[in-house]
Formats: sequence, C-alpha cells, structure tokens
Amino acid sequence: MAVTTSTGVKTPTGVKTRRLADRVAEMTSFKVVDFLEAAERLQAEGRDIVRLEAGQPAFATPQLIVEAAEAALRDEKTKYTSALGIAELRRAISDLYRQRNGIAIAPERIVVTTGSSAALSLIGDLLINPGDGVLVTDPGYPCNANFIRRAGGEPQAVPVEAAERYQLTEKATRAHWQANTIGALLASPSNPTGELMDRAHLEGIHKFIASQGGTLVVDEIYHGLVYERDETSILEITDEAFVINSFSKYFGMTGWRLGWMVVPEDVVDVINTMAQNFYISPPSIAQYAALAAFQPSVIAEMEARREELQRRRDFFVPALRSLGFGIPVTPAGAFYIYADISALMKPGRADGEAFCWDMLERAGVAFTPGTDFGEHLAQSHVRFTYTEPMERLELAVERLSSALGSRG
Ligand SMILES: Cc1ncc(COP(=O)(O)O)c(C=O)c1O
Repeated sequence: MAVTTSTGVKTPTGVKTRRLADRVAEMTSFKVVDFLEAAERLQAEGRDIVRLEAGQPAFATPQLIVEAAEAALRDEKTKYTSALGIAELRRAISDLYRQRNGIAIAPERIVVTTGSSAALSLIGDLLINPGDGVLVTDPGYPCNANFIRRAGGEPQAVPVEAAERYQLTEKATRAHWQANTIGALLASPSNPTGELMDRAHLEGIHKFIASQGGTLVVDEIYHGLVYERDETSILEITDEAFVINSFSKYFGMTGWRLGWMVVPEDVVDVINTMAQNFYISPPSIAQYAALAAFQPSVIAEMEARREELQRRRDFFVPALRSLGFGIPVTPAGAFYIYADISALMKPGRADGEAFCWDMLERAGVAFTPGTDFGEHLAQSHVRFTYTEPMERLELAVERLSSALGSRG
C-alpha cells in the first residue's frame, strides 16, 4: 500500500481522500517482512525454503515456561497487573543481574514491558522533544529510527565500519554530536552485525555523553547470546543509563511479547504514569510464565542453546566466506551475520535487494538485504540469521554454492 499524507491512501480503485498524520509518511518499512511473506508464499506453493531471514530463535519455548503459563490460565492470572509489572518478576530480573553481572539493581528500577519494543517506545516518548537528535549506528536496528521520529526527534545516523566491529566509538560519538543531540540509542550485541561494545568503549561513550548532559540508552536484548567474549552491561558502569532487554531472544519467547527496561530511579514514577496510560499493563499470562524462565534447569537449557548457536555460527561464517561473502570480523554474539556481497556482484553493481530476491527464487534460501538496516553499507551487504538447525544451514550452503556458481 502506498501512503501519502497530502492525497490520502492509494487504493486499487483510486485515491481515497483520507487525511493521515505526517509522521506515517516518514516511517520506513521492514523489508524483512517482504522476504518473510515471499518465503511463506513459495512454501505454500510446495517449495522448500531455508529460512534465514527472521530474527528469532527457532527453538520451542521451554516446557517449564509453557507449564507455568498453563497454571497461570488455570489460576485466572488473566487480569491487568501493575503497569510496571508483577513484583515477583521484577525481583527475578534483579536476581538475574546479580548472577550474570554481579551487580545489585533495585527491583523498583526494573519496568516490565510488552516486548522491548514497548520499552523503546516509552523511552522515546520520555526523553525526546520535537527537534531533538539521537545518535544511532548505521547499520543498526531499523525500528529505532522510527521510535525516535514518532516522538518528533531526528535519528542521527553514525556510519560504522568493520574495523570498529561496526560499533560506535567515543571518537565517532564526539564527531557526530550536534547542537540538538540529546543522547544515543545503541545495541550491544547489535542487529544486524552481532557485534559487541567492550567495557572500554562503553565507558568512553558514557563519559562523553554524560559530559554533554545527554542520555545513553543501551539495548542489551542479545545479552546472554555472546560466545567467547565477555559481555558488559552498561549498568556495571553507571546507574544513569537506560537499558532495554527482553524475553524474546535469549529465552526464545518472541511471541509472548515480554521485555523489560532498567531506568534511573527518578523516572520510575513518570514511566509508571506513561505505561498506565499507553498500555495499562504488560501481558499477565506471559509475566507469570516468565517466572519459570529463571529456574536453574531452564537457564541450563538456554545455555545449551547458546552453545548450539555458537556451533552453528562456527560452521556458517567460514562456509559463507568460502562462497565469497565478505565477513571481516566474526560476530561476537546474537545470531546474525552481516555479509558483504561485493565480490559476488559485477564491480560497482552491488544490489543487496536484487541479490536476496535472486537467491530466494533460484536457491530457495531466504535472507535479508542490508537496506533494512540503514544506508551506509546497505547496497553491498545482506544479513543472515543462523537460528535454523545445522542440517538446514548445510543445505543453505549447498544451494547458495550451486546458485552462485551458475550466475551469469
Ligand atoms: C536490537 C533489537 N531491539 C529490540 C527488538 C525488539 O524485540 P522485542 O520487542 O521482541 O523484545 C529487536 C527485535 O528483533 C532487536 O533486534
């Protein structure tokens, strides 16, 4: 559907004069959805497609969590909860920080949300005035720019390079800070690169932003899914940053729509008011189910999955390299590979979208064009996820190999 705010909505029968708000014209769409739908269409026609496009673990929700949800339903835990989330879950998340990061985070600073997407939305509305700028990386998670725009702000893209592991540095933060910049919204590990900011980077960026009176928001949704390197939470460095997290990725609960944020103490009350108004409460059944996520046996299961994801990464990265994809740094975490296709296209003619359509059509392998994640390296890059079982990844390599071999 094409949307224009001056003329209304274009429909198959012509232009309807329905006035829409200007902000919808600025929204960028998520191209991954086009590939997801196309892959599903091909599958419905009977084709086997290796699905490496969507950003979600292909594992089932752990049994104990499912059982806890069944019990919540039976016990009629089906009503609104506190807008900030049930106290038991906020305490359990606080314990997770104690165990994982060795830090004491008061449960009162933890706000349970409807996926981390709701946390991003609340933080945007809390911090951004019309005209304010917020630094984001390019490439980066595409929805961030839309959350910023929705609040009337200006996403200020900072191009990042493989040499810096695709992460922001203190130097780049200084260089791109403008008169209207109020902070930065960063993800570590990042989507689409899987790259991680180490402690020194985080400290440098935090120090500079604090010196400007700005706010640092770190999306730590892929924490727990880091392979051989250490992950540092910004909360180990400062209580002033905002942290986003979720049950979607490490716990593999994307459809349960449950996330959380950790915020400075002085904004909890205003966030409570915002959440009450905008969402009333996060989903009750998902919250009671998530209490089971912290059982030692569930954590052990998640750790085994993390090891399995590492095994898949260790197979898939070199396999893609041997097919000609450029992957200058081995991604440290998440389940993404951001790959350069320049060597696979005619010189100066890299076109990630055309490449992805071609590979979906001819190889039966679905993955995402770089244009979903920004502009900087977008045309010459694509994103693979490696959440599918090993034999499917092996099949993807086989199919890509023969399709690339037969390209004219
Ligand atoms: C970096 C990042 N942040 C946030 C989200 C949103 O996740 P959810 O709303 O499921 O918690 C995603 C989803 O892919 C993501 O990649």
